Amino acid sequence: MLPGLPSLLGSVVLWLSSAAPRGLAEQSIKCFPENGPSREWLVRNKLTPGGLRTLRVLSVASPKTNPDAVLLNISWVLKQDGSIQMLKATKICVDGKGQFLTYSCVRCNYTEVFQSQTPPDGSKWEFHYLGFPIKPETSYFISAHNIPPANMNEDTTIISVKFISPGCQDPVMKYTKKCQDYGSLWSPNITACQKEKSVEVNFSTSGLGHRYQVLITSRNDDVLGHSDILELNQSRATVTLPVTAEEGKGAVVQIIPYFSSCNNDCTRRRGAIFSCPESIGLAGLNQSQPWARPLYFLLPALSAGLWALTAGLYLLWRRGKARKAPPHVPPLLPSIRVLLVYHPQACFRHAVCDFAEYLQGHCRSDVVLDQWQKRRVAEMGLVLWLTAQKKEADRVVFLFSSPAEACDGSCGPSAGGHQESAQDLFALAFNLFCSDLKSRASLDKYLVVSLGEAALSEDLGALGVCPRYQLMKEAGPFCRDLLSL
Ligand SMILES: *[C@@H]1O[C@H](CO)[C@@H](O)[C@H](O)[C@H]1NC(C)=O
Ligand SMILES: *[C@@H]1O[C@H](CO)[C@@H](O)[C@H](O)[C@H]1NC(C)=O
Ligand SMILES: *[C@@H]1O[C@H](CO)[C@@H](O)[C@H](O)[C@H]1NC(C)=O
Ligand SMILES: *[C@@H]1O[C@H](CO)[C@@H](O)[C@H](O)[C@H]1NC(C)=O
Repeated sequence: MLPGLPSLLGSVVLWLSSAAPRGLAEQSIKCFPENGPSREWLVRNKLTPGGLRTLRVLSVASPKTNPDAVLLNISWVLKQDGSIQMLKATKICVDGKGQFLTYSCVRCNYTEVFQSQTPPDGSKWEFHYLGFPIKPETSYFISAHNIPPANMNEDTTIISVKFISPGCQDPVMKYTKKCQDYGSLWSPNITACQKEKSVEVNFSTSGLGHRYQVLITSRNDDVLGHSDILELNQSRATVTLPVTAEEGKGAVVQIIPYFSSCNNDCTRRRGAIFSCPESIGLAGLNQSQPWARPLYFLLPALSAGLWALTAGLYLLWRRGKARKAPPHVPPLLPSIRVLLVYHPQACFRHAVCDFAEYLQGHCRSDVVLDQWQKRRVAEMGLVLWLTAQKKEADRVVFLFSSPAEACDGSCGPSAGGHQESAQDLFALAFNLFCSDLKSRASLDKYLVVSLGEAALSEDLGALGVCPRYQLMKEAGPFCRDLLSL
């Protein structure tokens, strides 16, 4: 018997009211548990009904009476043939193969003898039964047959389907007690930021446990740093891990909780690492990149500019205050969304990532990169993902970089096995966006950037119509044009 079923028996009548067939009001079903063989199995039945046409299973939240249970909604359609007149009942059994084997059946009697092969409205006879509380991530075999059953030596009329219940991330399943014990409702609200020599991580602890492990992992899932935390009374835990800005590029933070219900098997949570406010700009720089070097010359100019701006604002504010007017605060400009499409020859880590970081740090951009959204790309497929990004992005930047430069073995174009996907991405993006390149109105959205002396190849001539910038030489105009929407 499935756990929880007895407690639901009392409310079977409730399911019945929702189990009315479509069509004829008189025909309906009455379901009750019947775990042994049906009486009809024991005798020879002269005439037997055919099987079911379809059997479908879905999981649904149970009604308010039992907020903890998620039930199966099993629906079936009867075959349209003359033998339907013999049909008295349909029996459904559920076989659960999770941690424990569970087996349970219900028998649904049809309240009337079937007089016609279809309901009066001409549709199909369809019924459903709501019951069988299920556990997360468990396989169930649901089988159904009509009663009276086929006799020995006749074709069997049992049909069955396999159903795997959703995991604790499922919006319905996560409210079950079991999932809650596993931490499904815990939102750690991770904040992590990169300083020059360390990463600082804050997260909210859960009432379910006190022990956590914090990991910083690289793009390739190498562990760059880890720390055990035993947090007894703070609702928010803080830990600092010695991971330098250079090591930590593209890294993510992972929190592994140890709750008593799941011990070593609890769901990990991930979070992004941003630059700490005081180290913005410095974190993204790396002396090994020839194209980034000119930034060092830019920085003093930038900070001088910033200083002048601050001083100017201060004076304005002073003047405003003197006039007893409310201080004038310039509105924070929103950032723009930039889709970055890179040529497969570009070094991912040295050119693409650094350029993306430069955009985020210096050109007020939210960069969208396929490699940063691997999961979404996998879920949607590359074409759909690109189409969606094309719609959402304010700007699309095609990035070219000369192949040889700074591309040592450790970060060859094929490092991390992304070369093929980069080729697909580039080719697809180029073809998808090419139609836009022919219309003046949408042309503005596209920019071409070459790092160093990279040249456009013949077959990409269509991009020749886009404004083109060579970085870092033209960093200023590029940033300005990028932002001037
Ligand atoms: C169960 O499935 C049937 C048939 O698909 C549908 O009509 C009914 O609304 C479903 N019930 C719930 C509670 O989802
Ligand atoms: C269902 O049908 C069987 C046989 O026709 C009968 O013995 C049984 O009492 C019925 N059960 C209900 C609850 O109607
Ligand atoms: C998450 O943390 C941030 C910063 O600590 C805070 O502003 C925000 O309200 C928190 N959100 C939730 C849902 O706890
Ligand atoms: C973490 O929390 C501390 C203390 O509440 C705060 O000073 C620090 O800025 C936070 N760091 C991050 C990365 O949120």
